Amino acid sequence: MAPDRDEAVNAVLEPPCPEQIRREIREGLTDSPRRLPARFFYDARGARLFEEITRLDEYYLTDAEVEILGRRAARVAELVGRGVRMVEYGSGSGEKTWIVLGELEAPSAYVPVDVAREQLLSFARRVRERFPGLEVLPVAADYTRLDELPWPEAESGATLAFFPGSTVGNLEPPEAVAFLSRIADQTGRGEYLLIGADLVKNRRTLERAYNDARGVTAEFNLNILHHLNRLLGADFDPEGFRHRAIWNDERSRIEMHLVSLRDQVVALGDPDAEEVEISRGEVVVTEHSYKYEIDSFHELVRRAGYRPVEYWTDTDDRFSVHLLQSASP
Ligand code: AVJ
Repeated sequence: MAPDRDEAVNAVLEPPCPEQIRREIREGLTDSPRRLPARFFYDARGARLFEEITRLDEYYLTDAEVEILGRRAARVAELVGRGVRMVEYGSGSGEKTWIVLGELEAPSAYVPVDVAREQLLSFARRVRERFPGLEVLPVAADYTRLDELPWPEAESGATLAFFPGSTVGNLEPPEAVAFLSRIADQTGRGEYLLIGADLVKNRRTLERAYNDARGVTAEFNLNILHHLNRLLGADFDPEGFRHRAIWNDERSRIEMHLVSLRDQVVALGDPDAEEVEISRGEVVVTEHSYKYEIDSFHELVRRAGYRPVEYWTDTDDRFSVHLLQSASP
């Protein structure tokens, strides 16, 4: 029997085992400054909380990017041409995907890439419902470890990678360069990348976006501890930490912290291993969110072998979306 189309996940890499994750968490937590990897925000609850963040008044990023895409997707479609294979890194940005896909001329395929398998498959199903006839080829994999992307059966034009949300800002600049170079390798030389990048602006606006009045971002930040407890059998006490987000002007980034409210000891779920001691007032870095000027962003993408084709900002100049093309061989 032919496999259910929804189950046709094209490449699955083995997720790292708990032992590996535990080692990574211990390494970060005992480093100076202490840190936890931001990708552990996103269990099911974390994904829901992030969705909620994108609807907050203070979190201007999503509205600004949606505004730009709404006004410029037709221009993007014109630049990339007919029959595009669209690859989205981190699937399920929903609204943004509809806007771009809806403008492309006879796209050959939509290839969402995400580690969260269930979310990926349900999103793929929604895309098929909305665009009957479009080949949807979900790839369940960590995109930093992926080598090759599936090709549609239909004849295909250019490849358009889509990386919205200013998610590139969560990578340290050298990692961002490495990541964008990998996208260029995966999509091929001479192919396109449509990418969102949040812009440097006044401290007040930036800090409000990451310290919302309802405390959703605080819940999101603390959720990393709940998630690690479940994943590793660790015993972080989420009540023993408080959320903080501050703008670091010198490094051009929002820093999200969990500040320890007391002297405490954390077990990471391995009874034979040492516990981690954290003193009152000590900080655990959970996320950096880099903000760019247009010029500094262009410099970054050039280092990754991309050439800026065009870029657009929203009417209030808060956010930018760039169409890039990777250098030809
Ligand atoms: C969408 C992942 C880029 O850095 O603004 C939102 C994540 N963290 N609020 C961002 C986030 C806190 C978000 N990214």
